[in-house]
Amino acid sequence: MVSTHPAGVQDSGSKYLPQIQNNQIETSPNQELLPLTASINSKDHLAIGGCDVPELVQQFGSPLYIVDEATLRAACRQYRDSFQRYYQGESQVLYASKAWSCLAICAIAHQEGLGIDVVSGGELHTALAAGVSPSKIYFHGNNKSREELVLAITSQVNIVVDNWYELETLVKIASPSQPVRILLRLTPGIECHTHEYIRTGHLDSKFGFDPNQLDEVFTFVSKQSFLNCVGVHAHIGSQIFERQPHRDLAAVMVQWLTKASTYGLNITELNVGGGLGIKYTESDDPPSIEEWVKPICEVIQNACAEANVTLPKLLSEPGRSLVATSCVTAYTVGSSKEIPEIRNYIAVDGGMSDNPRPITYQSIYRAVIANKMSAPCTETVTVAGKHCESGDIVIKNAQLPKTQSGDILVVMATGAYNYSMASNYNRVPRPAAVLVADGEANTILRRETYADLLRQDCLPEKLKA
Ligand code: LLP
Repeated sequence: MVSTHPAGVQDSGSKYLPQIQNNQIETSPNQELLPLTASINSKDHLAIGGCDVPELVQQFGSPLYIVDEATLRAACRQYRDSFQRYYQGESQVLYASKAWSCLAICAIAHQEGLGIDVVSGGELHTALAAGVSPSKIYFHGNNKSREELVLAITSQVNIVVDNWYELETLVKIASPSQPVRILLRLTPGIECHTHEYIRTGHLDSKFGFDPNQLDEVFTFVSKQSFLNCVGVHAHIGSQIFERQPHRDLAAVMVQWLTKASTYGLNITELNVGGGLGIKYTESDDPPSIEEWVKPICEVIQNACAEANVTLPKLLSEPGRSLVATSCVTAYTVGSSKEIPEIRNYIAVDGGMSDNPRPITYQSIYRAVIANKMSAPCTETVTVAGKHCESGDIVIKNAQLPKTQSGDILVVMATGAYNYSMASNYNRVPRPAAVLVADGEANTILRRETYADLLRQDCLPEKLKA
C-alpha cells in the first residue's frame, strides 16, 4: 500500500487496507491485516462490510468484536475450492471451532460446505445447535470424558481417538446398536517453528498415539467389532509459515495408511489437521490458502500413486486462517500516562479478558485509530488493557496518530483464539460481537451484563445478610 503522506512523515492507518481493492482478484484473507471489505469512508473512518466502525461502537457498545462475513466466507471458499482444484479424490474441510465456537460462525462454515472439528462437549453442542450434520462433525481431545463420548456416540459424530484410555472406554460403550466411527490421532514426530505452546506434532506432545505403537494400535482396533476405524489424523501445530512440515506430514500419513491395510483396516480418510499461519504484522509472510493446500494434495497423490493405494478422502481442519482476519476488535481509548524518557501509555476499555494472546504467547498485534484513518502515525505508544495486571498490554510500542480519550482503537486479526479464550478476569463482562455485511450489522454474541456475571453465583443461606 502506497503512503499518501510526504516523505519523512510516517504512514497512516491506510497502509493496512487490503492490498488489492476494487479488483476482481480476491486475496487470501490470511495474507491481509484487515478484513477484505475494509475501506476508508468520506468521514476518514474505517468501514468494514459497508459499516462505519465508530458508528458500530456507538450503536453496539465498546469493546466490540466486528466480524466481516465476506472475509470469513472467502476463506471458507478458498479452502474448499483449492482442495477441489488440486485433489483428485474426495475432500472435506472442517472448521476447527476451537478458534471461535459460536452459533453464527459454525452456521456460516456449515453453509459454505465445511464440517466442524470440535474438542469438547460444549463445542459439540454448539456445532449441533448450529445445524451441522453429525456426519460432518469430528470430535477431538486428549481426555474426553465418558459423558462427552456418550454424547458424541449418541449424536453419531466421528470420534478422533487420541489414546489407549479413550480406546478402551469406547470399547466399553460401543455396541451393535451403537457402533462408533473413529479416526486415530497419531503423533508424527515432525518439528515446526512456532511457539512451544502451540506445537503439537513433535514426539514430546500430550496429543495422540506414539508412532512406535502403531502396530499395537492397529492390531487392537482391527479386532474390535463395534469400532469402525476409517481414518488417521495428525496435527503438527499452529501459526506455521513453512510448507515443508505439512509436506512431510502428508508423506508420513500415506505410510500409516498403507501400514493399516496390512492389518486389514480399510482406512479411507486422512486428516492433515490445520496450522496455516496468518499475518499479524507487516513482516509476517504466510503462504496463501491455495499455496498451503496445493503441495499437501500433490504429496498425497504422488505417495498414493507410488504405493498403489486408492486416494483417501482428504480432510483438513484449519481454524486460525479461516476466521482470524475476518474480525477486528474495537476499543475506546480512555486514560493515558506519560513517563518522560521512558514510555507513553494509552489505556483501552478491554485487554487480556477479551484477548489473552499477548499475555499468553507474547503475540504481537497491529492497530489503527478508526476515526483518524489518514492521520499520520506520529506517536509511539503502548496500548494497555484495563485489567489489574502489569502484563495486560495489548500492544507494546504501537505506531499511531496522536490519540485522545474517546478515539476508537481497532486491533486487527482478532477472530481466532480471542473470544474463544476470553475470560471474565476482574469480572469484566465479555464484549458483544457483530457480523457485518453490505452495510448491515447483526449481533452474533450479546454483550455480557453484570447480571450474567452473577448467573452462576450461589449464595448459601448462612451467608445471606
Ligand atoms: N486441529 C487440531 C487437532 C488442533 O489442535 C488445532 C489447534 C487445529 C486443528 C487448528 O489449528 P489452526 O489452523 O488454528 O492453527 N490458542 C493458540 C492456538 C492453539 C491451537 C490449538 N490447536 C493461539 O492463540 O495461538
